[in-house]
Amino acid sequence: MTARTRLIAGNWKMNRGPSETSTFCEKFRRWWDSADEARASVGEGKLEIAIFPPFISIGTAKEGLHGISILLGAQNCHQEASGAFTGEIAPAMLKDAGCRFVLVGHSERRQLFGEQDETIALKVRAVLAEGMDPVLCVGETLKERESGETFAVVERQFLKALAGLDPDRVAERTVVAYEPVWAIGTGRTARDEDAQEVCQCIRRLAAERFGDETAQKLRILYGGSVKASNATGLLNMPDIDGALVGGASLEVASFGGIIQGCIAR
Ligand code: PGA
Repeated sequence: MTARTRLIAGNWKMNRGPSETSTFCEKFRRWWDSADEARASVGEGKLEIAIFPPFISIGTAKEGLHGISILLGAQNCHQEASGAFTGEIAPAMLKDAGCRFVLVGHSERRQLFGEQDETIALKVRAVLAEGMDPVLCVGETLKERESGETFAVVERQFLKALAGLDPDRVAERTVVAYEPVWAIGTGRTARDEDAQEVCQCIRRLAAERFGDETAQKLRILYGGSVKASNATGLLNMPDIDGALVGGASLEVASFGGIIQGCIAR
């Protein structure tokens, strides 16, 4: 089996302006200097760590983390390259600001801002076209889970977002985050086996659509109330390659704890 580089990604959502970001970075640098194992894992290419601050704090995070191997991501982008789209951010701007990743189709974007599969597919392409890596979020609501639709929902979201993409781009550059909506920000984490079952299904879908080799390289994260105390169990699952962390990524102590939990796996 291909060894996939694990990814621990912190989605700050609408939290931490520039001043707070600067404070986070100072604390994170101190943590990083003392985190020998994390530095070694990152240095050996076994682990990637990324934070996704609000747009306005990306520049501060870049400066504050300068010289340490933490990657940056954005939480959203527009699908067009430029133009009259007041209040939006183009992928090229995020690239210029130092982003390597862009979250696409987070459930909060789908539910609160009406993002549809079609727009999400355009965003995935726009991010790839700029040489960044999309982190495509998929996941079912509680109602969908209870009515037995989990796999159908995830299948639809996954296939629509990635339809027609070149398998190499999926394998090398795309990350999928399985985030059951009922587990996000609720403190209610999916059981390790339930998260694994859906992540395995995503890998199977990737194999059917893009081939086995692509499926084996595709990185699949779990997200939804991940914390230091549950990270190791989730990350021990064979098809879970990392975590997309919301609330617990806002403080260095809890985010660092999850990174340690990933190494302990
Ligand atoms: P949470 O958020 O860890 O606070 O549940 C996860 C996410 O929405 O990415």
